[in-house]
This record gives sequence, C-alpha cells and structure tokens, in this order.
Amino acid sequence: MTDKSVKHEKAAARQVAALFFTSIVGSAFAVYAYFAFPITEELGTVRLNTLLLGLGITLGLLGIGIGAVHWAKTLMPDAEVSEERHIARGSEEVRARAVEIIKLADSESGFSRRKLIRRSLYGALALFPLPAIMIFGDLGPNPGDTLRHTMWKKGTRLAKDPSGLPIKASDVTIGSVFHVIPEGLSELEHHKLEEKAKAAVLLVRLDPADIKESEERKSWSYDGIVAYSKICTHVGCPVALYEQHTHHLLCPCHQSTFDVTDACKVVFGPASRPLPQLPITVDAEGYLIAQSDFTEPVGPSFWER
Ligand code: FES
Repeated sequence: MTDKSVKHEKAAARQVAALFFTSIVGSAFAVYAYFAFPITEELGTVRLNTLLLGLGITLGLLGIGIGAVHWAKTLMPDAEVSEERHIARGSEEVRARAVEIIKLADSESGFSRRKLIRRSLYGALALFPLPAIMIFGDLGPNPGDTLRHTMWKKGTRLAKDPSGLPIKASDVTIGSVFHVIPEGLSELEHHKLEEKAKAAVLLVRLDPADIKESEERKSWSYDGIVAYSKICTHVGCPVALYEQHTHHLLCPCHQSTFDVTDACKVVFGPASRPLPQLPITVDAEGYLIAQSDFTEPVGPSFWER
C-alpha cells in the first residue's frame, strides 16, 4: 500500500469507484449507441455504429481494468506471498488456511467493507457483457440458401460496372477485360452491395483456339468470350488482375492464380477450387446475356462445407 492515511485511502477509494463508474457509463453508452445509431442500407451507418460501439466497449473494459489495477496499487498491501506446491486437494488444515487467507484478503482489500467500490464493481461487471450479447445478436438471421444464389438468371444482360450499360459481344475485343454486374443491379433499392458482392463477374475474350473446354462447358462461352465470378474462392477478395500473355487471373490478396483458358482452375496459391463460370450467350440484339445463375456457389470454398 502506498499511502495508509485515512484521508488518502478515502480519496483512492473514490478514484477506484470513479473508474468503475466510467466502465458502467461506457457499457451503457455502447448499448445506447447500438439502438440509437442502427445499421441501415447506407454504408456510413456501419462506420458510425461500429465506431460508437467500439468506443463504449473500450471504455467499459478499460474502466474495469484500470480500476482494478488502481485498487491493487493504492489500497491493497504489496507484500509478496509465496506458497509451496502441494497435492491437488489440500488437507483439512490447508483448506482451513485457504479460507483464512481469503478472509484476510477480503479484510485487507476491504472488499466487504468498502461498499462503494464493491457495488460499483458489481455494476461494471454486470453491464460490460451486454454489448457483446447484442453484437452476437447481429450474427443472425440464418442466411438460408441466399449464399447459393445470385442475381443472375436466364436472359439477364451483362452490364458494365459501374455504369450499368449492357455490353454487346461486338464490344469485347480479344484480350480486353470487362468488370461486369447484372443489368438492373443499380436500380435495386435494398441489399445492392450484398447482391453486387455475389454477382460480380469478369468478362474476357480469348482466341477460341486457346480455350480448353469440357463438352459440358462448350455452350457456356460465346465466340471466345468467357465470364467468371470475380469473387476469389480462397477468402473472397475481388480477383481483378488479368495477365494478357499468360491468360492468368490473379487475386491481389494472397496471390491465388487462375487459368482463364482452362476453366479458371487454380494454378498457384491457397484457393482450393476454380472460379465458378457464368454460362453466357447473346440475345437477338447482340447483347451478352446469362443463360442461368452460376451452377455452383460463388466465393470462399468454406461455404460449401
Ligand atoms: S482471397 Fe484470393 S488468394 Fe486469398
């Protein structure tokens, strides 16, 4: 104990209680912020909600931590006590001694005596798990099979990202790459970002002689134009780099590399399965359209486990 005078003890007790009250305020603020600044369709609300929730939780945890340290440093004895190792269950005398030690610790720390500290600590400990419980609530609802489907369906035109203008097959020259979204995505009122994150596609035109296609996939491309999901099958970064000479698509996050000429199979890196291919064709006006949705889930492979 650094200062045993009654006056200083009282001051230290008030400081400890103030720190625990700070924790209570922090936790209560996190609960308030969760409801007062909910996450909506706007991206800015995610940042604001996360920021305020983080500040509240930080204050809640720091208040308890600093309060406990301050309590130990200013009000508890600092003599070191060592104890010999003994078998797991102590004898009756040892157990009685343990009870004595707990009582001694209680009287030295003033836990039973100092009501202000004790009650403020109870309050801080009771409130600080609340924000975590609320955050767990945000893990739901169960996504069901929404991760297995995207906006693509039969007849949906392929459109440029971000303009949303449909693409004609004649616009796509050999070696060019288009970042593609389904036509109509920009007009969605809800869940636009979620739909884009699942449906984003890369469109590439190759020399048809370079493409190794299985019998099943021969009808999935159009005159050397192929469309593959842009969402990396490792952990979901956008695959955005195309090497024209090697026909490789590269994911910038962990360098997974996919061969566009060979069904986007993985040729390097941690991804464990090829990028899913979107079956495409053209409509009567020459615009590129999807033949169907992807035939397998897009994105990280762990969704399939
Ligand atoms: S997310 Fe693409 S390699 Fe890791």
